[in-house]
Amino acid sequence: MQKDLLTIEELCENDLNEIISLASKMKLKRDEWKPRPLEGKSVGMIFSKSSTRTRVSFEVGIRELGGNSIFMDMSDLQLNRGETFADTARVLSRYLHAAVIRTSKHDYVVEFAKAANIPVINALTDSFHPCQILADLFTIYEYSERLDGVRLAYLGDCSNNIANSLILGAKLSGLKLTLSSPEEFSPDFNLIRNPDMGRGDIRWVKNPSEAVQGADYIYTDVWVSMGFEKETKRRIELLDGYRINRDIVNEASPGVKIMHCLPAHRGEEITDDVLDDSRRSIVLDQAENRLHVQKAVLSIMFGEVGEATKKNNKKKG
Ligand code: CP
Repeated sequence: MQKDLLTIEELCENDLNEIISLASKMKLKRDEWKPRPLEGKSVGMIFSKSSTRTRVSFEVGIRELGGNSIFMDMSDLQLNRGETFADTARVLSRYLHAAVIRTSKHDYVVEFAKAANIPVINALTDSFHPCQILADLFTIYEYSERLDGVRLAYLGDCSNNIANSLILGAKLSGLKLTLSSPEEFSPDFNLIRNPDMGRGDIRWVKNPSEAVQGADYIYTDVWVSMGFEKETKRRIELLDGYRINRDIVNEASPGVKIMHCLPAHRGEEITDDVLDDSRRSIVLDQAENRLHVQKAVLSIMFGEVGEATKKNNKKKG
C-alpha cells in the first residue's frame, strides 16, 4: 500500500484483497484480536464537516488497535486564520503518527499529504470518499462472495464523492456499475474513461428503470451533499424521479439488496419502507464495516499485520 489513502486510485488489486481479507478476520475476532499496531501512536482527526459514522468508527478503531486519537475541529486550528495546509502538515507530522482528514476541497488533503511525512487518510472531501467505498466493497463481498461481475446500480447524484469513488472502486474490483441521473448530475466521464485506472464495466443511463434491470445491488446517497445546501430546491426537483421506492426495487433482480452510505434523508432519495426492509437493506452492515475496513487499512499502513499476513501466506505457499 502507498503512504496515503486519498482516493481508491492509490490502491492496487492486491491492496484491496488484503484489506477485505484482513477486515473479515478482524470483524470475526473483534473481541480477541491481538495485534495492536498503533500501540503508543497518536492519530490526528482533522474535520471541517459534520460526521457520525466516520468520526466514531475511526476513533473506536484507533483505540482498539492500541492508539490514541486526537479530534480537531478545523475551525479551532490556525488553518482557520490562514495557516496553510502544507505548514500545518509539516508541524503535525512532528507530533502525530497519522492524520485522518475530512474537508471540502480535495486539493486541501492533497496539499496536506504532500507536505506530511506521516500517512494521511481522506475521510471525505467534496470529490472522494474512499473509506466509505472500501466498506461498501467489503459489504458486497460478504453478501456475494465476489466483486468481479457483480451488478450495482447507483441512482441519484452521479457527480458527488460517492459516485466518483464508486467509479474508481468498480475499476479496481471489476464491479459492473450502472449510474443513473438526469444530465445535470451526470458522472465525471473522465474518471470512467481513463484507461490508466484499471478495468470495470461502467455506464451511465438517464432512465432509472433501465439502470436497475438485473441489478444485484441498488445504491443511493443524499441528493444534497454537505456544502451544497443552497441548491436544495433545484436538486430535489431535478432528482425527483430517481428515488428508491418499492416500484423501482421490484424492477431489479428478485434478491436485490439496498445500499446507502447514510445519513439518509428519508422520503427524499429513499422511502422508509425500502430503507427499513430487513430482507433487502444492508445499510447498517455498510456502516458497521466502516470500522473493520478502516482498522484493516490502519493495520496495513502500520506494517505489523500486513507484514504478518504476507509472512503467513509465504509460509503456507
Ligand atoms: N457515511 C458517512 O461518511 O457518514 P458520516 O458523514 O456520518 O461520517
